[in-house]
Amino acid sequence: MCGIVGAASLRNVTPILLEGLNRLEYRGYDSAGIAVLREGQLQREREVGKVAALESLLEQRAVKGQLGIAHTRWATHGKPSTLNAHPHLSNASVAVVHNGIIENHEPLRRELEAQGYRFHSDTDTEVVAHLFHYYYATTTHQQDSLNEAAEPAQRLMAAFRATLGRLHGAYALGVLHIEHPDSLLCARMGSPLVVGEGSEEHFIASDPLALLQVTDRFIYLEEGDHALVSRDACRIFDTAGAQVDRPIVRFEHGDQIAEKGDYRHFMLKEIHEQPRVLKATLADKVSDEGRLLASVLGAEAEALLDRVEQVQIVSCGTSYHAGLVARYWLEGLAGLPCSVEVASEFRYRHVVVPNNTLFVTISQSGETADTLAALRFAKRAGYLATLAICNVPGSSLVRESDLRLMTHAGPEIGVASTKAFTTQLLALLWFTVLLGRKWLGEQRLAELIADLAALPAQIEQVLALEPDIAALATRFASKHHTLFLGRGPHYPVAMEGALKLKEISYIHAEAYAAGELKHGPLALVDDDMPVVTVAPSDELLEKLKSNLQEVRARGGQLINFICEDAGLEDGEGFHNLKLPKVSDSVAPILFSVPLQLLSYHVALVKGTDVDKPRNLAKSVTVE
Ligand code: AGP
Repeated sequence: MCGIVGAASLRNVTPILLEGLNRLEYRGYDSAGIAVLREGQLQREREVGKVAALESLLEQRAVKGQLGIAHTRWATHGKPSTLNAHPHLSNASVAVVHNGIIENHEPLRRELEAQGYRFHSDTDTEVVAHLFHYYYATTTHQQDSLNEAAEPAQRLMAAFRATLGRLHGAYALGVLHIEHPDSLLCARMGSPLVVGEGSEEHFIASDPLALLQVTDRFIYLEEGDHALVSRDACRIFDTAGAQVDRPIVRFEHGDQIAEKGDYRHFMLKEIHEQPRVLKATLADKVSDEGRLLASVLGAEAEALLDRVEQVQIVSCGTSYHAGLVARYWLEGLAGLPCSVEVASEFRYRHVVVPNNTLFVTISQSGETADTLAALRFAKRAGYLATLAICNVPGSSLVRESDLRLMTHAGPEIGVASTKAFTTQLLALLWFTVLLGRKWLGEQRLAELIADLAALPAQIEQVLALEPDIAALATRFASKHHTLFLGRGPHYPVAMEGALKLKEISYIHAEAYAAGELKHGPLALVDDDMPVVTVAPSDELLEKLKSNLQEVRARGGQLINFICEDAGLEDGEGFHNLKLPKVSDSVAPILFSVPLQLLSYHVALVKGTDVDKPRNLAKSVTVE
């Protein structure tokens, strides 16, 4: 949430910063700001709303310079307003941008107010600006590990370290001081930050995507790292203040720079990318001869997996729904007991860890604060090993887990997750098959691998039904509440469908296991409440059909996603969308796609901001 970008260059950095903000906007979009150093002056401009509003403002102001920082905000402390927008200044000499939450901002604020500092915002971030100003003003020139550096840089670093030493909570920071027109300070604790290396220029950003227009070479700061970045150098220090080398990594998705192309929204583009990215996700996991390639999980994976007796999955939001589907697979296909929990609950629970339990996190971003905290907790709790299923190679979750299983969805920009979900499901089914390989027998194994390989083409067929789904969507536009029903693994698919609809159309949607309907929610059903069912032709279909009749008998309007052979026809209150019949194992993946399209088209009819729904942001890096 929120986005940081910074640059030290010989050229004017303002266009680089604005382009970076545009690329980061999906991470937070309630206000934006920029601070640039020029000829001993700190110029700062901020505006409420999207980055375009800041761009319009800058057309009227000459904000230029060779060193600068910028920010797009998702409000935590203090409402969206110009005063609360970043960068925050102290005494017109320090500028700070921040992602995360400074948990001890209240006592720090009182302390700084007692020192005479005046606060101009309601944010937790402003304390960082004043604290740094205070330490810079009071720090004597100290010797430290910057032996080769000039004395003023030592003072700058000493003040920065003193500041960081006072902060509790999570942060990625970018900091400027007016007396150091060549130096950009940055730090990472609980919130991601990268340094980008250009030709005689350096950049910082909370996400490499922000800088792909200027470089594809990145250094991922580790937890507790801080750095002194200038045009021609980048020196990184660990928590103890020792200078460290971090590898430079080339960005893998450089050829897929996130552009909408001919699509009206990123979400639609990402829905339509699913056949391609599902194929890519499978490609490194199954050989041409149909052999499972366990080595993608990391060295020694196979021997370790043989010891797994249970699986604990922890994740958030859409990734949690992927975990819930996987439980049906792991128990049904691999015979392994599996628990699934949302990370925000798991991390504060006193868990009992059964022997030989594999701890699995699922995350598109790999930076979700609760999931990361759950992983760190699990590493101390006695699990057999940790596995991250993730879409971002250099992310914290991937780096901190013993094993990794990469999805290859490519950058997902729409806040509502689509292709990340289906690639997670595919990776989870592959992983289930791998865990159950000895159990399943050769023939079943071969069938499951063939199911996975056939899926991209089947999803193409579903995408071709978009006009029919768009027509169904018109039934929703004027509604305020919707029920989604499913059974078995299609219950979590229904949960994901309900989440999609809420996120982007703001229609209240709840998912129920269809068998639970008569235990309460049936009371809500009337002809003003559409009921969406996820009803593939599996062993539970006949039971589900009875649930549909229960709804219809109360006047409910049913929208059923069914297979061609379901034996259900359109009629009064029955609106069916027929999908190709696929094997039970992959049906949850296939049936997710029409629900994504349904939400998208409902949002279009309602005219909401599909890619940037209100109050939300991509990648939730605060608790
Ligand atoms: C889903 O559409 C949302 N974007 C959200 O629920 C998301 O899945 C959740 O915040 C978890 O994110 P992660 O996969 O990056 O960890």
